[in-house]
Amino acid sequence: MHSALVYLNGECISAETASLSPFDRGFLFGDAVYEVIPVYDNKPFRLQAHFERLCDSLNAIGIQPPFDFEHMHTISQQLIDQTDRPETVSLYWQISRGCDMQRQHIPTDMLKPTQFACLQHRILPDIQRYQQGFKAILQPDIRWHRNEIKTTSILANILLIQQARAAESEEAILYDDDQIIEGASSNVFFLDQDTLYTPQKTHRMLSGITRKYVIEIANKIGLPIQETDCSPEQLRHCSELYITSSTREIMPIIQLDSTPIGNGRVGPVWHTLFEAFQKNLTQ
Ligand code: PDD
Repeated sequence: MHSALVYLNGECISAETASLSPFDRGFLFGDAVYEVIPVYDNKPFRLQAHFERLCDSLNAIGIQPPFDFEHMHTISQQLIDQTDRPETVSLYWQISRGCDMQRQHIPTDMLKPTQFACLQHRILPDIQRYQQGFKAILQPDIRWHRNEIKTTSILANILLIQQARAAESEEAILYDDDQIIEGASSNVFFLDQDTLYTPQKTHRMLSGITRKYVIEIANKIGLPIQETDCSPEQLRHCSELYITSSTREIMPIIQLDSTPIGNGRVGPVWHTLFEAFQKNLTQ
């Protein structure tokens, strides 16, 4: 789904006429960062947290954030207000280092960042489908080690997800040195002995906004939660396993490679978390 209007470099224009230079470093090098923000109740979900993470990504690669929160908020709401089905969209924001007519690794001088935003279709979590559960595969983490930067250079993530799809699975859950990192496009949670676990935050993973929300939900419903190191073996033997992201919310995984998780069916704690997830969205 294309939004009829997109935001490009300071103005909202028709998606059909929007165009960028082929010398944009986001196009040539993936020298850009991005955010995907779900929309609930006609509003961008936790936009402040997404803005702060966008600024963290920009600062990490030496790009001065080109606008403040108010600007991002105004444009985001302007894009959302153009659709009559705001519950089926998410916002996509991307900032590149800008256009440089000389293709070289190091830009000629301080370039003007390219700013882009649009609506994208969001497939709403279908509770009937979610209750059947999904499969995931385990894969070595072949990405670079600065995954706290939400860069558009996600070719490794794409190849990993292609491997998951080839195995008729939803996600590739990544590990390195016997430590679970995250999914190729998600964070990971697992339940063991009535305690919820998630890998602690490091540069190796993206600090997910949904991950933070699920931790808050767990605390709110009195479910013990620990951010800790965990191994692929622990994942194989947990009782429930979930992946979280802005586009998936909290998704139950019932099979990891050929290993059933728990009894091979979606567990009761996922139902509790899913309900609490929905209930607290607009609070
Ligand atoms: N991806 N880790 C990775 C590598 C991700 O790409 C994502 C989200 C997450 C979850 O982050 P959050 O809860 O803030 O969405 C973790 C988005 C949805 C995407 O690339 O489309």
